[in-house]
Amino acid sequence: MLRLGKLKINTMLIMAPMSGCTDLPFRTIIKDFGCRFAFYEMLDASATLYSHKKTAFMLQSAIREMPLGAQILGSDPSMVLDAAQIILSQAKPVLIDLNCACPAKKVIKKKAGAYLLKEPKKAAKIIKNLSSRLPVPVTVKVRSGWDKNFPQQGLKLAKIARDNGAKAVFMHGRTVRQGYEGHVEYLSIARTKEVLDIPVIASGDIWNPRLAEKMLIQTGCDGLLVARGALGRPWIFKEIQAHLEGKKIPAAPSLGKIKILVKRHLKAYADWKSCPQKYIIGHMRKIAMWYFRGKVYATRTRDAIAKAQAYEEICEIIDRVT
Ligand SMILES: Cc1cc2nc3c(=O)[nH]c(=O)nc-3n(C[C@H](O)[C@H](O)[C@H](O)COP(=O)(O)O)c2cc1C
Repeated sequence: MLRLGKLKINTMLIMAPMSGCTDLPFRTIIKDFGCRFAFYEMLDASATLYSHKKTAFMLQSAIREMPLGAQILGSDPSMVLDAAQIILSQAKPVLIDLNCACPAKKVIKKKAGAYLLKEPKKAAKIIKNLSSRLPVPVTVKVRSGWDKNFPQQGLKLAKIARDNGAKAVFMHGRTVRQGYEGHVEYLSIARTKEVLDIPVIASGDIWNPRLAEKMLIQTGCDGLLVARGALGRPWIFKEIQAHLEGKKIPAAPSLGKIKILVKRHLKAYADWKSCPQKYIIGHMRKIAMWYFRGKVYATRTRDAIAKAQAYEEICEIIDRVT
């Protein structure tokens, strides 16, 4: 259980916001595998303000997956607030998170995402604006720092977030320079947890129950964000839950069951997207590959999927996997 201001979330295991991944079909699948709280895909403030159709599409949800969080990306305090209000009017997220963690070049160029680690005063203004005007709790996602020379920036921004009304901090224990490479570093998260009196939810390398437990022990954090570990392995939620409750970790699904699941995921995607197949085929290939990552037959399967031109073709390749 997590308490973020007045909001209670009945789990400490949260699916991280992930652009291009945590869409409606994906969230429906992880819900079936025990995920109790997830995020919509990250929403860019200016795209939200100027492309209402796209926002409405990204904010589609199913009643049974509620509650959900929404994450916003931006650098202009009033635009971020206006965008957050649009999000709240089009959907019913129970919290709004400000992204101060995205290291993508195009995001940094716009002085948003992790760039806000370098502009704490501006970040403070955005957070204060949101937390004083929105009816839902505001949270902030940070990186541990910009690079190894500035390892304290995440902690500094986390304190600023708390001082400006944030009700929790998500911390990814990698620096901006690291991107998604190398291993997560636990110390920055542990220090942040020590200093803050609001929940600290940790992110980084939650690939399996053992690493989830390690994160909890090493940092003392209040909750965990599952990210890449859930792509193609939605059962990770049940595995971690069981392990943390001291129960036997359930066996992973058989190859036969995984094949059925991938096809179900792809079908949900094909039925959901109302755009030409040529556009969605790349995403379907990506989804299919998530499920076969790291398996002995993965290379063969990946090569075949990479060439597939249609949904039916990917399904045929999956049927042939043995
Ligand atoms: C493809 C991809 C997309 C991501 N998109 C977002 C995003 O939109 N917002 C965000 O806060 N973090 C995003 N992240 C970061 C994850 O939420 C998470 O913090 C990070 O992957 C570290 O966790 P892991 O090592 O367990 O994967 C993304 C990561 C990946 C790999």
